[in-house]
Amino acid sequence: MQLTRLVYASHHGGTSEESLRDIFDRSCKNNANDGITGLLIAGDEDFLQLLEGGRTAVAECMMRIMKDDRHQRIRVLLAGEARNRLFSHWSMRCLKAAEIPLEIQDRYWVNGVFDPAQLPQAKIEGLCLALSEDNSDKTPEMAE
Ligand SMILES: Cc1cc2nc3c(=O)[nH]c(=O)nc-3n(C[C@H](O)[C@H](O)[C@H](O)COP(=O)(O)O)c2cc1C
Repeated sequence: MQLTRLVYASHHGGTSEESLRDIFDRSCKNNANDGITGLLIAGDEDFLQLLEGGRTAVAECMMRIMKDDRHQRIRVLLAGEARNRLFSHWSMRCLKAAEIPLEIQDRYWVNGVFDPAQLPQAKIEGLCLALSEDNSDKTPEMAE
């Protein structure tokens, strides 16, 4: 399998708890079946998502996500081959931006706001890496 990683940002302009719950649930369920792992951050206005898995699985998942009218202005920020998974413990690590540890927010938020459009590529990579190493919501066995 050619491991592929793709990161995109999109705009939702305000989403409901119900819609977010549905997106989080669907992502975990489908990705577990498709061998996809990753990260989904929901900010007040924007999403940032990292998908990693087989090339075809990631492409098919991205096609479905692009057709979803719960977000717009999808911009692919990074895409390519990867040597290993960053989020192997999560079928999708779903986080609200406000729940992210403050020391990570301090490093990556722009004027106190989660705004992926303002982040250069190195910062996007740094944020994803920091969240792959953050153990705050893992069970003790997973954090070992
Ligand atoms: C921001 C966002 C992220 C999403 N992430 C995923 C995902 O990681 N995996 C997935 O299968 N669907 C994801 N979805 C949902 C898909 O767009 C789509 O609704 C779903 O895959 C449809 O499949 P189902 O009806 O068989 O569950 C996401 C949707 C949004 C708006």
